[in-house]
Amino acid sequence: MIYLKTPEEIETMRSSADLISRTLGEVARWIEPGVTTRKLDTIAREFILDNGGKPACLGYNGFPATLCIEVNDTVVHGFPSERVLQDGDIIGIDTVVEKDGFMGDMCYTFPVGTISPEKEALLRTTKEALYIGINAAKPGARIGDISNAIQTYCEKRNYSIVREMCGHGIGRKMHESPEVPNYGRRGIGPRLQNGMVICIEPMVNMGSRNIVIAPNGWDCFTRDHKPSAHFEHTIAIINDSTEVLTTFDYIQQAIPDRFI
Ligand code: MF3
Ligand code: CO
Repeated sequence: MIYLKTPEEIETMRSSADLISRTLGEVARWIEPGVTTRKLDTIAREFILDNGGKPACLGYNGFPATLCIEVNDTVVHGFPSERVLQDGDIIGIDTVVEKDGFMGDMCYTFPVGTISPEKEALLRTTKEALYIGINAAKPGARIGDISNAIQTYCEKRNYSIVREMCGHGIGRKMHESPEVPNYGRRGIGPRLQNGMVICIEPMVNMGSRNIVIAPNGWDCFTRDHKPSAHFEHTIAIINDSTEVLTTFDYIQQAIPDRFI
């Protein structure tokens, strides 16, 4: 069942969306060769708590941290650790905050130092695919229209789409109906209407779409160990139009010359 939000509830959701956006802006400043992913996690947790939010991933189904860390071939749900970031890595940072009773969810994949042209193209295409998906998320369209737009855009450029993980509705809970796959047919699935708040989050692989989930049940990486990228926004359908509640502006302000 899809929980439609009132305009007032969507107003309230702006504060969790703003905080998650500012959190990733803060984390962005610290991403450089030599830093550990645990350090990034600490910075994010303290920033969220200092700003009146709650790190919603921490403890979610037993997840042990604030940030999901996605270095190179990690697709989703990596744990922060003593791993030291290297020049040429890419790192996706995916996290959720709760504020004023609602969740905000966002992901961004960052370059570490100087990355290869191939990785840069992967990041650019995945970010573009997110906006292609958002563009398809018009009131009256169907979820499948978003899915198909993302899949078509990426596969035309010879990338592959991870199928096991999807976007989702969001509200008082991190994951609500409907599921928002990044592949599929146009014209199927629920229709977008005022009050729907969803996360669109393409996970795009440079090689094959196959993934492996580690024995810990969380770490998810590409089977061929080629890189994977992931970008996510929380969006709302309100007043017969589509609004992106989260923003990458804080990231752009934090790292203007590394912003892809
Ligand atoms: N942010 C992820 C999503 O987009 C979920 C994080 S999983 C958690 O759905 F366990 F870490 F919370
Ligand atoms: Co999400």
